[in-house]
Amino acid sequence: MKFFIDTANLAEIKEAHALGVLDGVTTNPSLMAKEGITGKNNIMSHYKAICDLVDGDVSAEVISTDFEGMVREGEELIEIDDKIVVKIPIIKDGVKALKYFSNKGIRTNCTLIFSAGQALLAAKAGATYVSPFIGRLDDISTDGVALIEQIVTIYRNYNYETQVLAASVRHPMHIMQCAEIGADVMTGPLSAILALLKHPLTDSGLEKFLADYQKGNQ
Ligand code: E4P
Repeated sequence: MKFFIDTANLAEIKEAHALGVLDGVTTNPSLMAKEGITGKNNIMSHYKAICDLVDGDVSAEVISTDFEGMVREGEELIEIDDKIVVKIPIIKDGVKALKYFSNKGIRTNCTLIFSAGQALLAAKAGATYVSPFIGRLDDISTDGVALIEQIVTIYRNYNYETQVLAASVRHPMHIMQCAEIGADVMTGPLSAILALLKHPLTDSGLEKFLADYQKGNQ
């Protein structure tokens, strides 16, 4: 399972990369705004700064909602770095743009997926990744992880190469449930990745090992 971090914060990306388990980064316009990155030039340079920090894919989202605009923006975004994956919303023109980029061998991440039908369309259009937002579904009392399971089953039935990228991950159980189901990738905050480390028996066990070492080595 690939681990992506869902942030535009350079310090967090550095920290996750230093852990040695980071496979990529996803961003969106809200995450960029949260870091105070505004204006096209600043946004483009921030994407470049992210690409310089990591080894894997970096998803950069288009703002246009029409086919021509998405194509224009996507083509500009991929000029930034080979690591850029063009992130496109699942709307009618988005499907056309996914197909366009797929025909050109340009990698895409189809975002704002909330149903299996949307994921099926994105795969047929040749998306590299689909991003179902599981946390946002949970927020409205709908089982987000169940959607991941449904999409994984459909893609396996037809051998679609599109990778299931579980997005809007909020906590370590989301990660573990998606891993059991067989999601290809998860993207979430650094806190959810670090929370995988936590176990009270690890902490108390280590404390005891160190105390016993001190006793015998004074
Ligand atoms: C996906 O790529 C999105 O950036 C993201 O996972 C959305 O997560 P949120 O629901 O926590 O905003």
